[in-house]
Amino acid sequence: MEQFIQQVVEENDFKSERLLAILREIQAEFRCISKDAVEIVASLLKIERTQIISVIEFYSFFHLKAVGQYDILISDSITDQMMGKQSLIDSLSKQLNVAIGSVREDGLVSLNNTSCTGMCDQGPAGLINGYALPRLTTQSIEQIVSLITQQTALSDWPQSLFKVTDNIHKSNLLLDNPIAQGEALKATLQRGLKQTLEEINISELRGRGGAGFNTAMKWRFCSEEKESERYVICNADEGEPGTFKDRVLLNSYAHQVFESMTVCSAIIGSKQGFLYLRGEYLYLYDQLQAVLDQRRQQGLLGKNIIQSGFDFDIEICLGAGAYICGEESALIESLEGKRGIPRNRPPYPVTQGYLNKPTVVDNVETFLAVAKIVINGGKEFSSLGTDKSKGTKILSISGDCQLPGIFEYPFGTTIKQILSDCGAEDVLGVQVGGPSGSFISNQEFDRILAFEDLATGGSFIIFNQSRNILDLVKNFTHFFAHESCGFCTPCRVGTSLLKKQFDKIADGHGSAGDLIALDELCQLVKNYSHCGLGQTAANPILSTLQRYPEIYQQQLKDISFEPGFDLDASLETARQLADRTDTNAHLTQVEE
Ligand SMILES: Cc1cc2nc3c(=O)[nH]c(=O)nc-3n(C[C@H](O)[C@H](O)[C@H](O)COP(=O)(O)O)c2cc1C
Ligand code: SF4
Repeated sequence: MEQFIQQVVEENDFKSERLLAILREIQAEFRCISKDAVEIVASLLKIERTQIISVIEFYSFFHLKAVGQYDILISDSITDQMMGKQSLIDSLSKQLNVAIGSVREDGLVSLNNTSCTGMCDQGPAGLINGYALPRLTTQSIEQIVSLITQQTALSDWPQSLFKVTDNIHKSNLLLDNPIAQGEALKATLQRGLKQTLEEINISELRGRGGAGFNTAMKWRFCSEEKESERYVICNADEGEPGTFKDRVLLNSYAHQVFESMTVCSAIIGSKQGFLYLRGEYLYLYDQLQAVLDQRRQQGLLGKNIIQSGFDFDIEICLGAGAYICGEESALIESLEGKRGIPRNRPPYPVTQGYLNKPTVVDNVETFLAVAKIVINGGKEFSSLGTDKSKGTKILSISGDCQLPGIFEYPFGTTIKQILSDCGAEDVLGVQVGGPSGSFISNQEFDRILAFEDLATGGSFIIFNQSRNILDLVKNFTHFFAHESCGFCTPCRVGTSLLKKQFDKIADGHGSAGDLIALDELCQLVKNYSHCGLGQTAANPILSTLQRYPEIYQQQLKDISFEPGFDLDASLETARQLADRTDTNAHLTQVEE
């Protein structure tokens, strides 16, 4: 083991910021990162062993105790649940004789649930030793059980078990006609860096990762910082349940994404870029490395790119199963080899990002758009969309429809149109923007896709009339409690209290007072959490409580209220009280 670790650490230049990459290799080789391994890494990197243990404990793909030789994780996303995931995991558990959440005694196999794996258009899905297993069925489960029982090496398993498809059903400006390799770089050099940034400004492109910040402004801020070192990061963490468009973009448009990162590097003056790829997309890693190699051979990456005198290269860093690492400052912490805990902001990454140097962090789709803008000019892009949302948006559509997959629409498209295109019928409602977004009912389908109305990073989950709203709220609320990074009390304690309180009501054990307390708790978590995760964790409850109060009321055990009792007025009073409450004190008390 010592020799193996020595070699891995050497390959990572003895850099502590490469800790995640080092731990990933140790985990893959030994199925755990044992205490001995921790000691060796600590002494080679000259960092505290407690620091390494805290990192191992933070990421769900690292383990202090060994997982099975075949480690199976089944996605617990709402769409996987809707497609029958529970009976499949139960069947795996029974046939392999391993309890969910444990390792079989002989160490051959371990089985557990995991958060969304980014395969909602082809679920139920899972991972085996980190590799994606889409479209699980009773038959494929039997095949997997047999392969494991015969101890067949993963490399000899039928490739059909691992086949992930793109499912692009509707393309527009971005997905039509991918650029030729080098085209955007040549256009940038011909036009000049300042004028290229001006074209991006003219396009009015806003970030596609969710927050919608003006991209040209972000790049300009970064370029104006008085530092010699700057970094470009492509955020491919894509952990929001129901989102999978970045997976498709990296599978089929990686050249274009890397090219835009290179354009960005020229504009801001950076020599190093990173693609932070979520651990669940491990299957894309080798092919992405091959694309980078090809670009180096073509002179589109590396030294003196297309004889222009500037140098830039891109490294791929794999995440390790933590949704919070999609938040840009948590992502930067993770890239530095630490736990993914969001930083205080300001300072923002453009001034103090990776290694405290000015850094641009952008979503995969944002980069995809830049290449087209650079080649065709900003006006083509801004001619599409609405007043405040220019261009097109790529949606990941899943749930109850005939055509789950990727759809690209100009901003301003109605929800009604989208539902018709993907063959959704008898719709109850749509979750737009994933669990942190909002649930809209079938009375609201004239609303539009736009930052000024329904903003989304891409997740669009459809529920038909057969679905129970409380099931989806439960799934989302449990997701947030599981993914809270635990750094601040309102979110750490609040999300687990939300889970308990919601379950109590959904299971029919709650009173009217419990419902008021639930609403109060929602306001506290929303208003006092440190980062976007906590600030949006109550959205599933709040948006459904507002639209369907009767569904919640029907669950209450004392539905015959006192004469004159007004639930809406009581909820409003609770909200006002919540605004005046010292949350930290309140929640710390609860925790104690
Ligand atoms: C909890 C949380 C998770 C996030 N996950 C992602 C993600 O997976 N991908 C992404 O691009 N942005 C994500 N974001 C937004 C990023 O913090 C950041 O705004 C984005 O990467 C900036 O790029 P853009 O301007 O191109 O959108 C997340 C934010 C929060 C609060
Ligand atoms: S809000 Fe939640 S995820 Fe964000 S820092 Fe606090 S505990 Fe972590």
